[in-house]
Amino acid sequence: MNRDLRKTIIAGNWKMNMLASEVKAYKDELMPLITEFKAWCDTVVCTPFVLLPEAVCAFKGTGVGVGAQNLSQFESGAYTGEVSAAQLTDIGTQYVIIGHSERRQYYGETDETVNAKTLAALKTPLISIVCVGETLEQREEGITNELVTKQVKVALSNVPGDRELDKVVIAYEPVWAIGTGKTATPEDAQEVCKVIRNVLSSLYCEKAAEAISILYGGSMNDKNAKDLLAQPDIDGGLIGGASLKPDAFAVIVNAANQ
Ligand code: PGA
Repeated sequence: MNRDLRKTIIAGNWKMNMLASEVKAYKDELMPLITEFKAWCDTVVCTPFVLLPEAVCAFKGTGVGVGAQNLSQFESGAYTGEVSAAQLTDIGTQYVIIGHSERRQYYGETDETVNAKTLAALKTPLISIVCVGETLEQREEGITNELVTKQVKVALSNVPGDRELDKVVIAYEPVWAIGTGKTATPEDAQEVCKVIRNVLSSLYCEKAAEAISILYGGSMNDKNAKDLLAQPDIDGGLIGGASLKPDAFAVIVNAANQ
């Protein structure tokens, strides 16, 4: 983390979990466990679409923001089953996860659709958490840096290096670490996050790259968060399993607000 240069962000990714009737109880359990919110750290929970109104209402005024896990690349129209950026912001959603590996793996999302979705989100106040990361096979092949470089470059095609960049966050999530309990070592995660920052620097400029938050995701939990967050280029976390447990999520939020 480098709090002087950029935001720290702790984002919970609930995936396809929780019911509307459980949101308030989650909030009631979480909030007393969070000791402090520092100005340089944002906390957000990314919920399934149908839970967003409930979550926006429950977390109003608490300091915890609400995000979605996907959006349509289209503005409006005949796209059955899709949800637009404007519809998300209209109900108070502040963040959106784009190109999560589960969307790439199960729903055919590509670097190109990730780019289109990022451009759609950027037309609104939404902050995009753009996910990149390699599979185990790709890591073993030794192509992690190359792959992540391409993912970042394509995802940010035509994203101008002006104030729009303030609404872009990158999440490095090695696919082999997601939901497996196998976390990347802080050093390995740092190495790839540094590669990402260098790519951002080559796409824009060093100053712009230093201002973009890069999160780590993949089995981050209450035990390993502190060491991961201590790395200079890891500016927070995208947390799946552990974010479903208010006590574990609070430990991570508190570690980020030290
Ligand atoms: P995990 O999920 O923390 O359960 O590994 C992270 C993610 O998929 O964003």
